Amino acid sequence: MERIIELANVSKSFRSQKGGTIQALRAIDLQVQSGEWVTLKGASGSGKSTLLHVIGGLLTPDAGSISVLQEDPTKLRPGQLNAFRGKNIGFVLQDFALIPNLTGFDNVALPMVFTSAHSSEIKKRVKNILARLGISELSDRLIREMSGGQRQRIAIARALIYDAPLLLADEPTGSLDPDTKIEILEVFRELHAEGKTILFATHDADASAYADREIKLRDGTIL
Ligand SMILES: Nc1ncnc2c1ncn2[C@@H]1O[C@H](COP(=O)(O)OP(=O)(O)OP(=O)(O)O)[C@@H](O)[C@H]1O
Ligand SMILES: [Mg+2]
Repeated sequence: MERIIELANVSKSFRSQKGGTIQALRAIDLQVQSGEWVTLKGASGSGKSTLLHVIGGLLTPDAGSISVLQEDPTKLRPGQLNAFRGKNIGFVLQDFALIPNLTGFDNVALPMVFTSAHSSEIKKRVKNILARLGISELSDRLIREMSGGQRQRIAIARALIYDAPLLLADEPTGSLDPDTKIEILEVFRELHAEGKTILFATHDADASAYADREIKLRDGTIL
């Protein structure tokens, strides 16, 4: 099977406001095969989001090597990195990163707006994805008028707009009620069955049951 993610000896630290250093990732080795669903577990602050951000090219590691779909995101220029990410990686960010004064539709369409895609094509895709996630009624509503769980599903929809082969999902069911959570996990199950590779950071034990494999982080290290 094809190896889609490969990290060797990856470390990442942050400077804290007070001048100290926080070691968020320590010499991480990780391989993920194409089509795998891997759950990332670990206490708050253990490094799950940092790891996803490094894999998704949102953060540059301090040390180590990284390969995602045969590319080293740290070697790409900003424009190339954006294009690479857009085409290959669907990212559900933990804080959603939605634009409050735009509608659900516009937020989901956002990744495609700056591409050469025709507006009728964008419209069709957004409609399909909103329907798939059971949130067609949120299309015309502003983000700032939505509940946390509604925003969460818009953020998931946006990550799916490109039909990217790799999905990085950071606590994507954290704000959902139990029934909606299962619905969304079932959508991820379908995506997994379609062959998507999924990295899924979560505290939720139910989500683990869906995964092929579970990785546990503690204090920046894989246990
Ligand atoms: N931008 C930043 N600046 C400074 N420190 C940071 C930054 N981002 C993360 N950290 C620190 O790095 C460590 C790992 O954080 P990270 O967000 O990866 O944890 P997490 O496992 O995702 O936690 P949670 O389950 O709460 O989402 C924490 O100690 C955190 O305080
Ligand atoms: Mg996190």
